Amino acid sequence: MAESDFAKIDSVLEEYKGRKGALIPILQKSQANLGYLSKEALKYISDKTNIPVSEIYGVATFYTQFRLQPIGKHIVRICHGTACHVANAPKISEAIYEALEVEPGGTTEDLKFTVEEVACLGCCSLAPVIMIDDKTFGRLTPDKVKDILAKY
Ligand code: FES
Repeated sequence: MAESDFAKIDSVLEEYKGRKGALIPILQKSQANLGYLSKEALKYISDKTNIPVSEIYGVATFYTQFRLQPIGKHIVRICHGTACHVANAPKISEAIYEALEVEPGGTTEDLKFTVEEVACLGCCSLAPVIMIDDKTFGRLTPDKVKDILAKY
C-alpha cells in the first residue's frame, strides 16, 4: 500500500476517533477512498483501532458492500431482476464471464473490468440489460454483449 493510502485511512480514523461502534463506517469510508479493502488496509485499521483483525475481517467478509479485491476500471453490472432473468440474463452473464475470463463478482487480471450481478436496473422494457459504468445497454444477446465489451 502506498504512503498516500495509509494517509487516507488515517484521515478516516481521525474522523471516527473515540467513537464506539464505528467499524462499519470506517470500513465504508476507507473503501470509498481506496477503492477496496486490502489485507494490508485491514491490518492497519486493526493496529490503529485495537480491534482484532479477525473481527474486522469478519465484518468485511460478512457484508457484500465490502470489496476485498481491487476493482476494475469499468464496472459491468448484469441485471438479474425478474424481467431480465426471464429474458435470458443467465446467457448474457455466461457470455460476459467467458469473454472476460472472470468469475461472477470478479475482476479481470488486467484490472479493466469488474463484473457484478445486480437486481433490477430500472429499465425492464429493455431486458435483458447490462450497465457498463453509467451507460445502459438493452435488448442484448450474447453476441451483442461481446461486441460491446470489445469496444472498451
Ligand atoms: S429486471 Fe432488469 S432492468 Fe428490470
